[in-house]
Amino acid sequence: MSGEAETVLELDDIQSGVLRPRPAPYAATYIALRIDDRSAGRELVRRASGVVTSAANPNSPLADTWVSVALSYQGLNALGVPQESLNTLAWEFKQGMAARANALGDTGESSPEHWEKPLGTPDVHVVLATVSPDPHRLEAVVQKARKTYQELPGIKAIWRQDCHALPSEKEPFGFRDGISHPAIEGSGIPGTNPREQPLKAGEFVLGYRDEIGGIQTTEPEILGRNGTYVVFRKLHQRVAAFRQYLKANSTDAEDEELLAAKMMGRWRSGAPLALCPLHDDPELGADPGRRNDFLYSEDDSAGLKTPGSSHIRRTNPRDSSIAGVVRIHRMIRRGTAYGPPLPPGVLEDDGADRGLMFAFVGAHLGRQFEFVQSQWINDGVFFGAGDDKDPIVGSNDGEAFTVPRRPVRRRLQGLPRFVVNRGGEYCFMPGLRALRWLAELKT
Ligand code: HEM
Repeated sequence: MSGEAETVLELDDIQSGVLRPRPAPYAATYIALRIDDRSAGRELVRRASGVVTSAANPNSPLADTWVSVALSYQGLNALGVPQESLNTLAWEFKQGMAARANALGDTGESSPEHWEKPLGTPDVHVVLATVSPDPHRLEAVVQKARKTYQELPGIKAIWRQDCHALPSEKEPFGFRDGISHPAIEGSGIPGTNPREQPLKAGEFVLGYRDEIGGIQTTEPEILGRNGTYVVFRKLHQRVAAFRQYLKANSTDAEDEELLAAKMMGRWRSGAPLALCPLHDDPELGADPGRRNDFLYSEDDSAGLKTPGSSHIRRTNPRDSSIAGVVRIHRMIRRGTAYGPPLPPGVLEDDGADRGLMFAFVGAHLGRQFEFVQSQWINDGVFFGAGDDKDPIVGSNDGEAFTVPRRPVRRRLQGLPRFVVNRGGEYCFMPGLRALRWLAELKT
């Protein structure tokens, strides 16, 4: 066995939310805090290090319930992390999400000037995320998390977002999510696609070798080791507009479902077109052992089953022939839904805010999140589709969507934007030792 194959992650120093998929069903809460006083900030981090769960013990008394803590660049600065240490973190992180708006396609309605305040302002210092299998257990953990900041006068809670699994257990457009996750070497947590070679740990956690052979470290090493970057985005979903588009561009209800599946790459049940291209197979969609067991190139290089432009094939082209190397653009996702579901069959917008709190986890903000968002979602050049964008989450403004088909392809026009970014931030989720180091900063 080679040395690299023996990589063992220090699970007891890694926050649980980094590696463990969220429970299903789930309830979650995100709380943003501002640090007005440095010593209160350090005390907050000290207390947080006591409630944050590590990835080591899935059978802890809290079971599937966990608290994670992440800090923005401004947050680390507010704690007094020396500038020479801050400079060793990713430059995109230092800029913050609002400053990266153009690169991310956060333009028009998604641009920072329209974001929900205080998202996108320098006030977001700390994000506490709590996730649990049900609202009852969540409340107990939120209470515990609240204790970490409530009695600290220099700390202010400035934003909160509650999320919960919809009764259908699907995301607001109606698709099963939380299906495909990469396998990570040394994590002991199995991936979902048996055909995907586990990725090097350094793709997701700082301090380990990555797919390119590099090891990301910070100065001092303890700050970064076992930490990772997290991207939070509150993505509003226009469910009525999505349903209207499907209806207007299909011949009947069956065709509507096929079109929805062609846009996503999976039927709403979660069953992939790659394995059942003609009809939905709900049993397959519900089977974690089979529903992600596929590649594209051998029998579907032309996208006749799963269009190259569909959401899942764009965001993870697997073995498709594209410009570039897929394995350096993989990511861990932790999406949780917010807002009331739009009742089935309703085609008119009811004005409610609903969508996904999207969370990315990975060690390389630039070549993972930003690359996928800008090149694979908001451009089509990488697989020869010009400037076509992701039909579901792209920043569309009348673009087209192509469904390869014989004898003639199906080309849909006039895609509107179905997903609007309401704001977010780039954060760093330190390891548990790093949290204690931050709490003990002296200057
Ligand atoms: C509201 C916005 C979004 C919705 C409704 C959505 C929905 C979905 C659904 C239903 C799946 C298939 C099931 C699964 O594997 O979990 C999926 C997969 C995926 N999505 Fe999204 N998504 C959204 C935004 C994004 C964004 C912004 C990114 C990246 C920047 C992204 C990256 C991915 C990736 C990497 C996969 C897995 C692909 C695979 O391995 O097959 N998604 N998404």
